Amino acid sequence: MKVLVVYSHPNPKSFNAAILDAVKDELGKAGAEVKVKDLYAMNWNPVLSSSDFEQFSSGKLPPDIAREQADVSWADLLIFISPIWWYTVTAMLKGYVDRVMGHGFAYEYTETGPRGRLTDKRALLITTSGADEKTARETGMLDALNTTLVQGIFNFCGFKEAKYKNCFAVPFVSSDDRRRMLEEIREFVRNNI
Ligand SMILES: Cc1cc2nc3c(=O)[nH]c(=O)nc-3n(C[C@H](O)[C@H](O)[C@H](O)COP(=O)(O)O)c2cc1C
Repeated sequence: MKVLVVYSHPNPKSFNAAILDAVKDELGKAGAEVKVKDLYAMNWNPVLSSSDFEQFSSGKLPPDIAREQADVSWADLLIFISPIWWYTVTAMLKGYVDRVMGHGFAYEYTETGPRGRLTDKRALLITTSGADEKTARETGMLDALNTTLVQGIFNFCGFKEAKYKNCFAVPFVSSDDRRRMLEEIREFVRNNI
C-alpha cells in the first residue's frame, strides 16, 4: 500500500500536527509505504498563476506540479489533513488541489461531460473545526464541506472511494476529548488502509 499524506497546517504544535503524527504512526504499523507533503514546511506555492496556464497551453508542466503529480500517480491512497478555515480547507491545501489536480491529469472532458481520471485511488479527508457537531449540521457547514470537498474534488476526480472525518469543536474541548479524537482518527485510518 502506497500512501501520500498531504498535510496543511502552519503550526507544528497544532492539533492537526498531532493528527499527522497519529496517521503516520498507524501507517507505519500497517507497513505502508508513505510520502508526506507538509505544505507549509515545503513552502508550497498555492497560486495557480498566468504563468502556469501559459505553460499548460504550450504543453509543459511547471516542475513543482510535475513532481506532485508523479507522487499522486504513485499512491494508492491519498490522505488529506487540514483545519477548516472559512467553511473549507486552508487556502494552502486548496492551492495544492488547484495546481496539482489539473485538467488532463486528474480529470478530462469527454463528449458526455467531465470524467475523473484518478479511478484507481482512494482518498481520506481529515479536518478539524471550531464548530461543534450540532452547529456544523444546523448551519449547513458540514453539508457544504461534503459538497465542495468530497463531491467537488474527490468524486469529480474519479476516486473510487472517498471518506471524510471531521473532529468537532477542537479548540473548546478537554484534553481527554482531544485524546479520544486522536484514537478515533487512528481507528479511521486502520479501518481504511
Ligand atoms: C482563518 C480561520 C478560519 C476559521 N474558520 C472556521 C470555520 O469556518 N468553521 C469552523 O468551524 N472553524 C473555523 N475556524 C476554527 C478552526 O477550524 C479551528 O481552530 C481548528 O480546526 C483547530 O485545530 P488546530 O488547533 O489544529 O488549528 C477557523 C480558524 C481560522 C484561524
